Order: sequence, then structure tokens, then C-alpha cells
Amino acid sequence: MTPDDLPACADLMANTSLWRRYGVTASSARARLADALDGPGRLFMAVDDSVDDRSILGFVWCVRRGAFARSGYIPLIGVQPSETGRGVGAALLAKAEAWLSEDSPDVFLTVSDFNTAAQRFYQRHGYAQVGALPNYVLDGVTELIYWKRRSIAVTSDRADRVGRRPGG
Ligand SMILES: CC(C)(COP(=O)(O)OP(=O)(O)OC[C@H]1O[C@@H](n2cnc3c(N)ncnc32)[C@H](O)[C@@H]1OP(=O)(O)O)[C@@H](O)C(=O)NCCC(=O)NCCS
Repeated sequence: MTPDDLPACADLMANTSLWRRYGVTASSARARLADALDGPGRLFMAVDDSVDDRSILGFVWCVRRGAFARSGYIPLIGVQPSETGRGVGAALLAKAEAWLSEDSPDVFLTVSDFNTAAQRFYQRHGYAQVGALPNYVLDGVTELIYWKRRSIAVTSDRADRVGRRPGG
């Protein structure tokens, strides 16, 4: 994703009922995504190349060691409301996990307690709830913490960096 893509991704967020409930507007989304672009993570987009204006189908933001300064974290994933249920989310999640897994086998994310469709989506992709944060972002809403440990082949030269990172 480049700064040129920010308005379309921000509009996607502003048009998604989930994020509207969190008070997200096109301008607040744009500011957040601009921060994300400047930060240590990556933003990947799914685009429809068959149309001239290269319309954006969805995006995912992922941060290596964004969880507990140790594990992969996916702060945001979103698909155009008109394009859900066609595998775009699955493709974005796979892209994020592949990039994160170069650093850690673990991926964390949070999902709202009322967002049962997304919970099903994550569970189908191997995530399990391991915690809950009541009223963390919005009063009356619990953010569920989901975790997936990918099984990856760790070569010996990467073992210290990936498979055997010290705890504490
Ligand atoms: C959650 C979200 C990212 C999932 O993206 P998606 O593109 O709809 O996901 P997929 O299409 O891969 O899978 C969703 C459904 O489509 C079905 N599906 C997957 N591939 C498909 C395909 N090629 N053809 C038809 N259906 C398909 C899946 O079986 C699934 O069905 P189910 O939900 O009834 O079990 C998306 O719905 C979204 O952006 N939601 C709003 C924002 C949000 O909740 N974000 C997550 C919390 S931050």
C-alpha cells in the first residue's frame, strides 16, 4: 500500500458497520492508516485488476512483534462490504500470516464480542480465543483475544530467532 491508497482504504473503513460503531470516520481512518504506513508494520491490499481504476477489495495491517514485543499482531483486516464472502478475507489473512511467520509462528488479534461473523472466520482459519478485554475500546463491548500458532519449518540458523526466542 502507498499513501495514494489511503483514501480508498479509509473509505472502506468508514463504510463498514463494525468500524462505524467504533466512531470511525473517513478522516480518522485515514490518520490511523497513515500512522500505520509510517510504523514498523505492513499494510497489504487486495485489488481488482480487472477494472481500470484498480479498485480496492480489502486490506490487512500486520505488525511483527506487535503483540507482547514478541509475536505477530493483526490490528486491522477489512473487506469492502460488497465483496465479502468471496475469499478476499482468507487471501489477506494468508498474506499477513505468511509475512508475520518469517519472524514468529504466533499471530494475535482481537475481535469484538458482537462480531460473530468475524469470530467464525478466524476460528475457521485456526484461531482460538485465549482472553478477553471488557470495555477495552468501547464501553459495553469486550474485545476477545484470538491466538494462532502456525507450524513452520524452522531451519537451524533461524532457530534462535524464531523457534527458541527466550521468554521473560
Ligand atoms: C471478517 C472479514 C475480514 C472476512 O472477509 P471475507 O472476504 O468476507 O472472508 P471470506 O470470504 O474469506 O470468508 C467468509 C465467508 O465466505 C465464504 N467463502 C470463502 N471463500 C469463498 C469463495 N471463494 N466463494 C464463496 N464463498 C466463500 C466462507 O465460507 C465464509 O462463510 P461464513 O462466514 O458463512 O462461514 C470481512 O467480512 C470484513 O471485512 N468484515 C468487516 C470488518 C471486520 O469484521 N473485520 C474483522 C475484525 S477487525
